[in-house]
Amino acid sequence: MSGPCSERVTHAFRERYGREMAVVRSPGRVNLIGEHTDHNLGFVLPAAVDRSIHLAVGLREDRRLRFYALDKDEAFEGSLDDLRSSDLHWPDYLLGILSELTALRMDLRGVDCAFGGDVPIGCGLSSSAALEGGFAFTLNELLALGLDRVSLARLSQRAENRFVGVNCGIMDPFASLLGRERMLIRLDCRDLSYVYVPFDRDDLRIVLCDSQVSRSLTGSEYNLRRAQCVEGLELLRRHHPELQSLRDASPALVESHRTEFPPEVHRRCAYVVAENQRVIEACMDLDRGDLAAFGAAMNATHEGLAHGYEVSCPELDILAEAAQDLPGVFGSRMMGAGFGGCTINLVEADALPSFEAQMGQVYRQRLGKEPVIHVCRLRGGTERVA
Ligand code: GLA
Repeated sequence: MSGPCSERVTHAFRERYGREMAVVRSPGRVNLIGEHTDHNLGFVLPAAVDRSIHLAVGLREDRRLRFYALDKDEAFEGSLDDLRSSDLHWPDYLLGILSELTALRMDLRGVDCAFGGDVPIGCGLSSSAALEGGFAFTLNELLALGLDRVSLARLSQRAENRFVGVNCGIMDPFASLLGRERMLIRLDCRDLSYVYVPFDRDDLRIVLCDSQVSRSLTGSEYNLRRAQCVEGLELLRRHHPELQSLRDASPALVESHRTEFPPEVHRRCAYVVAENQRVIEACMDLDRGDLAAFGAAMNATHEGLAHGYEVSCPELDILAEAAQDLPGVFGSRMMGAGFGGCTINLVEADALPSFEAQMGQVYRQRLGKEPVIHVCRLRGGTERVA
């Protein structure tokens, strides 16, 4: 499906590079529950949404690389023979994919690429995974590399880990590449088995409230949290060498070794093992249609992220806590890596106007900001549109 965004990108590509191209839509993602469980090989419940990046891509006969970020109006030039990170930062998402394809000994050619979109940047919808996954998907098509979507998601994760330097899990590219219209994905991040969970209730809305806090800490703090999870796992493995990840540990097990953990490491691990169980139970709530229980689990996730994993911030706390008290709101919590970005809210459709009005007041009175609220629909994953 093409639209204004696709046309803008196509136009920019023709103007700059003057030739034919493939155009791909690559969506951002939300995550209903299961935060910071992916890199502990646990469970998540994300979905692709109707905010996307469009990429226009043409292969070249030589080994040059020319990229253009339409929304920043910035251009990058480089070569396949010299893949190193750029001061502009955004080219790294594309270079990282090329670097990973090179590591797989794929036969590459130079590329021209223009991209832009309406995934809000730095807002926790994972515009980075949309860009990485979308670029990998497009090259896979144009060069007939024969990779399936799960392999493309793994490749995107490796690009982010090794080239961009954020030790993220697989959730974001997986959701972007494998999303489906009106479906959530219940994903087991250990073996990557997944099922689609229908989410097609017209009486419900997924609403994001943007804290408008820049997520500059995300990379370093994300990696630190991840290292603390590994530290906790190593500690447990001294007694229980059979544990392969925190996903294998129960809350009771973590508690039984509490005194051996540095307090921070204990807080991180206690959060992760509780969250993992919460996802499993919340999925059962959803299957039963028990939205009150599902929403309560979302609220509990926020609490855990704020005080156990410690990745929230005052603005996110204010937005989540205020929303939790409003009529017609099942649950509200911060979403994604943390330190800024959005809260995700599960809201009755009929309550949406009053939700927006009341949250508008919270923004103005308590944050001193104008509200930025997105109502999302669940859409299909990455696809070629031209
Ligand atoms: C970021 C990462 C994901 C995941 C979330 C937190 O979005 O990219 O892999 O860890 O944070 O759940």
